[in-house]
Amino acid sequence: MDRANETVKREKFQTSFGLIAAAIGSAVGLGNIWRFPYITGVNGGGAFLIIYLFFVAIIGIPIMLAEFIIGREAKKDAIGSYKALAPKGKWHIAGILGVLAAFFILSFYSIVAGWTLEYLFSAILNKFQGQSVAEIGEGFAAFTSDPIRPIFWQLIVMSITVYVVASGVEKGIEKYSKILIPLLFVLVVILDIRAITLPGGTAGLEFLFKPDFSKLKAQGVLDALGHSFFSLSLGMAIMVTYGSYIKEDESLGSTAVKVGISDTIVALMAGIAIFPAVFSFGISPEEGAGLVFVTLPNVFLQMPGGYLFSVMFFALLALAAITSTISLLEAVTAHVIEKFNMERTKATLITATLITIVGIIASLSNGPLSHKKILGKNLFDFLDYLTANYFLTMSALISSVFVGWSLDKRIVENQLTNDGRLQIKYVKLISFILKFIAPIAILIVFLTGIEVIKLS
Ligand code: PHE
Repeated sequence: MDRANETVKREKFQTSFGLIAAAIGSAVGLGNIWRFPYITGVNGGGAFLIIYLFFVAIIGIPIMLAEFIIGREAKKDAIGSYKALAPKGKWHIAGILGVLAAFFILSFYSIVAGWTLEYLFSAILNKFQGQSVAEIGEGFAAFTSDPIRPIFWQLIVMSITVYVVASGVEKGIEKYSKILIPLLFVLVVILDIRAITLPGGTAGLEFLFKPDFSKLKAQGVLDALGHSFFSLSLGMAIMVTYGSYIKEDESLGSTAVKVGISDTIVALMAGIAIFPAVFSFGISPEEGAGLVFVTLPNVFLQMPGGYLFSVMFFALLALAAITSTISLLEAVTAHVIEKFNMERTKATLITATLITIVGIIASLSNGPLSHKKILGKNLFDFLDYLTANYFLTMSALISSVFVGWSLDKRIVENQLTNDGRLQIKYVKLISFILKFIAPIAILIVFLTGIEVIKLS
């Protein structure tokens, strides 16, 4: 790549804080707030945590770096970047899988993001008041299978997302991330203080942190690795696209480390906000969606100041979800802009419309269309399964192999050291990880995900 020739017009994140806030916005999402705390608890608490931290540090962060390198070197969208760096190869398949992953993930992620808005409004209107656990549970089932209400909220989520993405990299994504991410941190800190000052909350902290290696099985180790990719938004074209907006004087290494650490801290803080409260009221922690949408409204009902904290909690969840939907839409839109040479607003609208159509069908598959199955799953679950097990892992695998084996070593070194201006000691280590360790680890996750390797 001839750097002097770089397109003058390409938008950039203007400040380091804006860049980091945007990347954290993508990484911190529903995965941090309801999935991470729960999988940590059931897989042996502290034991799982140690493994998770290890994977984030030695595999997640290097892959994020690989994606940043590809994007910043090529300065194109995710598919265009691979094509620019390797015009003759087939490496751009990683970009195609990444863009497809972002497209399909957004189609169902926007549904769950919509649920968080419904719950935020229910919390504001104090709708859970006087309901029993069973009623809250039935209410959740009735809401998610309703043909209209989830779609109404999904459209609101998509409209907000379109507004931000259409406003551009600097005036949209960067601007709003700089406001929303600090707000998200403030909310989670307040919720943590409330939770740890509840009587009897220490059992919750024990559930989350106390290492119990007997509960950590091989599947738990794989979950840790798979979740680290999802949580850091890897393998979905996002970090390649964001990499292409990173200025030449930013350090890619320190950006990736800050994003990895912040993402993990928010996940831990979410666990600290949730479990002490759950245990303090003697409720057993439930898995997945039920934990956040059924158990917690019930916990808040019993908690002093519960009204305010429930509003804050669902605001936190909605914020985390919407900063992630922004990055998903950007990854797909950037491709449409460049591929069809289309103006940003138009590209955003067209992309979002297509995603919303798939999303509406996916939402209906939780209700009126639930009898239509693909490989035994409704569309909502099928999209989740397909993207998480195939698209995302394959895309991450190819990006790692590409930077580890095929991309010119000088490009990797120049990107990591900003053409020699930064003293970086870990260039060789990163190359080694991307060559051997990351591909082998991803391959194992991939083969177990599609059940070629079966764990007892
Ligand atoms: N990283 C986000 C989370 O943890 C999820 C996400 C997936 C965001 C894909 C963007 C893209 O919830």
